[in-house]
Order: sequence, then C-alpha cells, then structure tokens
Amino acid sequence: MGRIIGIDLGTCNSCMAVLENGKPVIIPNKEGKNTTPSIVTFNKDGSIDVGETAQRKAVLQPERTSVSIKRTMGSDFKLSIDGKDYTPQEISAMILKKLKTDAEKYLGEKVTEAVITVPAYFNDAQRQATKDAGRIAGLDVKRIINEPTAAALAYGLNTDSSETIAVYDLGGGTFDISILDIDDGVFEVLASNGDTYLGGNDYDEIIVEFIKKKLKKKYRYTPDAIGKERIKNAAEKAKRELSIKQVTEVRIPYLTDKVSLEMSVERVELEVMSSSLTNRTIKIIEKTIKEAELNEVDKIILVGGSTRMPLVFTALKNFFKKEPLKCVNPDEAVAIGAAIEADKLSGSCQLALTGKSDIVLLDITPFTLSTNLTNIGKAVPVIRKNSSIPCKNTVVFYNDFHDHTNVGVYQGESERYKENIKMGEINLPHPWSELGSRKVSITFSVDTNGIINATAKDLQTGKDMSCKLNFNSRMSDLQIEESKRKVLLLESK
Ligand SMILES: Nc1ncnc2c1ncn2[C@@H]1O[C@H](COP(=O)(O)OP(=O)(O)OP(=O)(O)O)[C@@H](O)[C@H]1O
Ligand SMILES: [Mg+2]
Repeated sequence: MGRIIGIDLGTCNSCMAVLENGKPVIIPNKEGKNTTPSIVTFNKDGSIDVGETAQRKAVLQPERTSVSIKRTMGSDFKLSIDGKDYTPQEISAMILKKLKTDAEKYLGEKVTEAVITVPAYFNDAQRQATKDAGRIAGLDVKRIINEPTAAALAYGLNTDSSETIAVYDLGGGTFDISILDIDDGVFEVLASNGDTYLGGNDYDEIIVEFIKKKLKKKYRYTPDAIGKERIKNAAEKAKRELSIKQVTEVRIPYLTDKVSLEMSVERVELEVMSSSLTNRTIKIIEKTIKEAELNEVDKIILVGGSTRMPLVFTALKNFFKKEPLKCVNPDEAVAIGAAIEADKLSGSCQLALTGKSDIVLLDITPFTLSTNLTNIGKAVPVIRKNSSIPCKNTVVFYNDFHDHTNVGVYQGESERYKENIKMGEINLPHPWSELGSRKVSITFSVDTNGIINATAKDLQTGKDMSCKLNFNSRMSDLQIEESKRKVLLLESK
C-alpha cells in the first residue's frame, strides 16, 4: 500500500503534501510548481488540459474553460461542452486526477488514498460532492478535513505552547474562520464560521467593474467573452501588485482595434471599493468569538492567498488590537495539515517518531441540524451548531400521523424551519392497521468528515422501520463508474 497524501483542493489553486522522513513536504506538480491552478480547459480535439496549461489557454477559449468549479460543488450546475454536460464532481475529478498522476511520478509509487480538505463552512452536499470527486479520480478519500483546522495542524507543528488561535483563511472563493484551543497535541475547534461565496474572486470582480465602467465611459465598449477574460486577468494582476505597491498601472492593449486600456489604480481605491467585503469577514469573526465564549485570542494565523492583501492585515490588526501572524505559508499550510492527518490515519505516525506528541483533532459541525416535526412551524434542533464531531442525537415525537411520517432535515440557525435550508427528507410509512397516534424517533449523526446521516423509526409498532436519508446530491456506485468512464474518455483522446 502506498502512502496517503494530503490534498488542498482549492477554488483557484490546489496543493499536495506528504510525510517524508517524519516531516511534511509539499509534492511539486509535473511542472515543478508547489501549487496547481484548479483550471480545466476542454480542447476542440476532445482532450483536456489541467493546471498551468489550462490557465494559459483560458484566455483563448474562455467558454471552454472551467475556473472556480469549487464554488458550484454540491449544486446541480453543469458545464456544457460540445453537447456533453459535466458536473462539478467530474470537473474536480479531472483536477484531482492530474494531482494524483503528478504525485505518483514524484513519489515513484501508486497513490490511491488521500485526505482532502474543504472549507469549514461547506455543507453536507458540498462535502459529499468532494468525496465523490475523489472516487471518480480513483482516490479513496480517507477523510475530509476542514481547511482552517488543517492549517492549525501545520501551525501547531512548530509550537509547543498551549494557546487559543484564530485561523483566518481567505482564499480565492471562500472565507473561513475557526477558533481553536491547542494544548499538548490536542487541537480542539471551539467555533467555526464562514462564507463559501467570499474570497479573492470577489475582490477581482470589484476591480473588473471599475475597469468596465472606465471602458464604457471612454469608449462605449462592452467586452465579449475574450475581452472579459482579459479584463479579469488584468484585474487580478493589479490586485496582486497593490499588495506590494501603492499604485499600479492596468494595461490591456487592443481589446478591439480601436480600444486599448491604460489606467492606474491606487491601493487606497481598492481598499475603499472592497471595504464591504473585508467588513463581512470581520462581522463573521465577531460572531465566532462570541460562540467560542472568548474575549480574545492569543494568536491570529493568516492562511490563503488573499491574506497577502495589506487591507486584510490592517482590518485584523484594528479588530484584534494585535498583529496577525504570517508564520505559515498561506498557499501550503492547508495541504501540510492534510498530510499530517493522512500520516496519522495511515498508522505510520511518522510525526510521533520525531518526538512530536500524538495529534488529536476535535472538530465541530458548523451548522445546526433540525427537523420540522411540530405543527407550529418551529425548527426542532437535533444537533446544535459547534457540536464536536463525530456526534449523534435522537429526538422522540408523539404526533397524530397518518399513513406516513414525513421528516424534513434542515440546516441553519433560524427558529422557523422554513427559513433554514432543506437538505432532504425521510418518508416513513406506517402500516394501515396501526394508524393513530405515533411515537417516532429521529436520529441525526455527523461523522468525522462532517457528513450527515438521518434515520427515522416507528417506535409504536415495535417494528424496526428505519429509513436512510437519501440526499439527491449523493452519487450511486453506478453514477461514479459512468463518470469515471466519461473522464477517462477525455484524457485518452
Ligand atoms: N499577492 C497577492 N495579493 C492579493 N491577492 C493575492 C495575492 N496572491 C494571491 N492572491 C489571491 O489569492 C487567491 C487565491 O488564494 P488561494 O490559492 O489560497 O485560494 P484557494 O485555496 O484556491 O481558494 P479557497 O481556499 O477559497 O478554495 C486569489 O484570489 C488570488 O488572486
Ligand atoms: Mg484555500
């Protein structure tokens, strides 16, 4: 059996790591880079490119290219290319397959098992979709772990003190904040929140709009698909430059034969235009500190490429009244943490051999899971937000049911079940001969991957009638095999 590798499957960039001689190391890709752009482009000859090559080709064939597919995980989004539809799981699998192949080349052995990270705030459908993407790519996903928790493991490698830390992870597409207590190798997540639609992409979008306004005003020009792609690239480049400069020039020559753009953007302009985004992250931190029942944290750890923006550093410094730390590599810490967990799961525990204490990870579920079995529209919490995982809880209802009981499973914090997100339902039939008042038990459980299961049982009849919750986002073995063939077909051409 080969080693289990750690994979950070990012919105913009993915990264892999593994334990070697008792130390986590990054696995470079075939191009020799530590991170791989999470981009897939579908060529007209039926082949695909993944990573850097895809990024280069994206400008020429934007409508045949998938970027930020992670933002659609768990949804029914489909990318249609040449009359064929591709799901987010299939496209993510194409990225994972490249990573797997590159890792095999680097390690000189087959890679069949992985720990994959997801944003802490990913819901069940998004986690399940990530697991399925792994299966399509031929990877047995041993565990799904939360990105900020993984980053905390990487940070913990170099500290022996006991402390509370806040991990602020602002990547390309998602924002996560987790507060952890680290004590003698035990990493306990106290509270976690986030926004799966808030990241560097949104800051880019603000500069894109700024540029577009200028183009419209000056040239009455509205960009086509290729123009849009060029503007997006220029905006991202400008954003990066503003992390080291106060002002930058944006140059996009020959958008048409009459339109060439040249303009400058100042750091302070970006700061003002994007302040509502940055403030959103601060509001989420406030809530998380409250939930962790703390007044302050000892350290603030920055993770994710977007934390390179000085505006993030300043906002955090103002809020916490202390400077956040740039002590882990913002692009690699999550993969390193995944490799540490992978090492532990593999049983080889190479870290322990180097004198590090055994690592215990106590993570939580970021949402309240409730059901709707009252007549007054109230959500009945079965598992509360911030419960340690794995966890399981049962509630019992007495009610006048008819020939079946319909149990809804909801995620969210509202007291009214209709305001929460419905994740699925169980239809529990009751035999006709046994109609009348019912006693029904409902059990929800969340496993170490953050994946939910729900069962309902008719206690009145004494019969063991339990149904498994059937989320429509979960792929069957047959569907996985079909997707595997579909992905294989693209590569072999
Ligand atoms: N120097 C920089 N200044 C500003 N932003 C930067 C800089 N370097 C990278 N970024 C931004 O960081 C983002 C990518 O970060 P990262 O690779 O951590 O995201 P990801 O892990 O792919 O996404 P996620 O964690 O949300 O899934 C991009 O939006 C990129 O523009
Ligand atoms: Mg990330």
